[in-house]
Amino acid sequence: MFETLFSPKQIGTVTVKNRLVFAPTTWGLSQEEMILRYRAIAKGGCGMVVGDVPARQTPTAPSLQKKKGFAFYAQVAEVIHEGNALASAQLFDSDGNWKALLPLLPAVLCKKKTPDDLRQALNDSVGPYISSLSAKKVKEITTAYGKAAKKAKEAGFDLIQIHGDRMCGAFLSPLFNNRSDRYGGSLAHRLTFALEAVAAAKTAGLPVEMKFVVRTETYGKAGLLAEEVAEAVRLLEMAGVDSFHVTLANHSALTHTIPPKTHPAFGAEGCFLPFASLVKQAATVPVCTVGAWQHPQQMEECCQKGEADFFAMSRQLICDAAWCEKVRTGQLDQIKYCVRCNRCVDSLMQHKGTRCIFEKGAKEA
Ligand SMILES: Cc1cc2nc3c(=O)[nH]c(=O)nc-3n(C[C@H](O)[C@H](O)[C@H](O)COP(=O)(O)O)c2cc1C
Repeated sequence: MFETLFSPKQIGTVTVKNRLVFAPTTWGLSQEEMILRYRAIAKGGCGMVVGDVPARQTPTAPSLQKKKGFAFYAQVAEVIHEGNALASAQLFDSDGNWKALLPLLPAVLCKKKTPDDLRQALNDSVGPYISSLSAKKVKEITTAYGKAAKKAKEAGFDLIQIHGDRMCGAFLSPLFNNRSDRYGGSLAHRLTFALEAVAAAKTAGLPVEMKFVVRTETYGKAGLLAEEVAEAVRLLEMAGVDSFHVTLANHSALTHTIPPKTHPAFGAEGCFLPFASLVKQAATVPVCTVGAWQHPQQMEECCQKGEADFFAMSRQLICDAAWCEKVRTGQLDQIKYCVRCNRCVDSLMQHKGTRCIFEKGAKEA
């Protein structure tokens, strides 16, 4: 019934069994719970599961470079493989200056400032931070993508995804990037961070995906404008990118990149497909679209028309981990559909972990 969606497709040297991908999703849960979630989603039938993995050590997530962190990611890859899916490690780097927050901590402890104030301060630090890093430091950061990719391979991951947003996305956009060296200014210069990260990751010998982020005049502050897409795709493919995972750029509000059903511009299913189409027109490698995909009929049609090769879902698979298997076996009436209320995101932001409104015990935000 959904022949194209369930047909295999190659990315670089690996073959993905179908066109369905679990999109990178921060869980904010205990490691035991995260393992359970990855296991359920992989077992639920998608061809590839993308897990978020910091490229360098960060205070907010386990580190590949540490023994315990490495063991955790090895377990993530293992449970994904047990479900017969491929595991992709999304390497990211934070774009905010954590050190700049230290002077604010006493005010938070005295409750004169809230955690939201801290988040705002971190967001405000992005432009000054990435614009003031020395070229030597930037090179050190991009080189770290190579070390992390090798560690991810050792841990059992099959592909690497470079998170083209966060630090990489901030470098792409002149709204943040005020540098005048080889990392700032022209499109080619703003892309240097991404190109170096891709080249470094390729040294691990795994296929490399690029999370490719597009902004408009209204939405998104990081990333690239439509007119910059074709040239960026050409340069990234030359650097070795094996596939693109396309979405709206970040750094405005999470409700734009993870849009609720009521969003004025991105409320419809497949809401970021126009951005993926832009990339598809320029790319020679497979393109994955993400953004409010829920119904297989639309995805199959889109896949048949060649508008995208892969379909990534986050919230729909958080809501129903067995979505892919239910579609494959024709049990469409058994699917629990995500209502895109964004309770999962609110819960994560409130440090309660990514939890769905339909989860037992979860309360409406
Ligand atoms: C709770 C939550 C956490 C997310 N964390 C990440 C992340 O760590 N990295 C990333 O690139 N995208 C992240 N995303 C964005 C998703 O990958 C996806 O692009 C977005 O949710 C739109 O897809 P959807 O409509 O299928 O949910 C997250 C989304 C959600 C809902």
